[in-house]
Amino acid sequence: MITVWPAILEHDLQSIQQRIDAVAGLVEEVHVDIMDGEFVPNTTVNDPAGLGSLDWKGIKVSLHLMIKHPELHVSSWALPFVSSMVIHREAVNNMASLIQLMQDIHVPLAIALNPHTPSYEITEYLDQLAFVMVMGVEPGFAAQGFNSDVLEKIRYLREQSPTLSIAVDGGVSLKTKAAMVEAGANILCANSYLFKADDLPMAYQRLRE
Ligand code: DX5
Ligand code: ZN
Repeated sequence: MITVWPAILEHDLQSIQQRIDAVAGLVEEVHVDIMDGEFVPNTTVNDPAGLGSLDWKGIKVSLHLMIKHPELHVSSWALPFVSSMVIHREAVNNMASLIQLMQDIHVPLAIALNPHTPSYEITEYLDQLAFVMVMGVEPGFAAQGFNSDVLEKIRYLREQSPTLSIAVDGGVSLKTKAAMVEAGANILCANSYLFKADDLPMAYQRLRE
């Protein structure tokens, strides 16, 4: 079964609220991009209290943290509606201590891999992760083209584990979806394909089919 998470990449709280309102009643969970301007060359809302002040309407949030030194910040992001945190392998020095920290704060941990980061960087930790997220683009911006080289990485991870959840973030659309799913992905995070669609509910249904 394919799960689709609308991806929200916004610079102010009001715009995030508009995105939530647009998908309320349609989805149970969304993907929210957090950028610090250092790990990636772009910034978004990067304020846990601000995010906490929004009306999430019962929607859970998988938080995609594109920030430096994530271990210093995860505790402040452990908000009640946060169902998982996706942390970049490239930003982590010590995987074992991050895994311990996430257990201590009771937040499921997922690891994201940039297009050029090999899967062997995480294979030994797979059974301790909520899911793996393969980036289909360099992180930082929405509406970039999908890098199909990462399909091989998805295929390899799927071979490692038939039960692992594998998400793809970046470049998800009706055109790219089939190859992602065929390679083994089961969670698709989509921003521009959904939010630029004339009919968002229809676009969402078509991506899930
Ligand atoms: C990129 C973000 C993605 C982005 C996806 O750094 O992590 O989540 O919002 O945008 P699309 O779906 O337009 O590629
Ligand atoms: Zn993202």
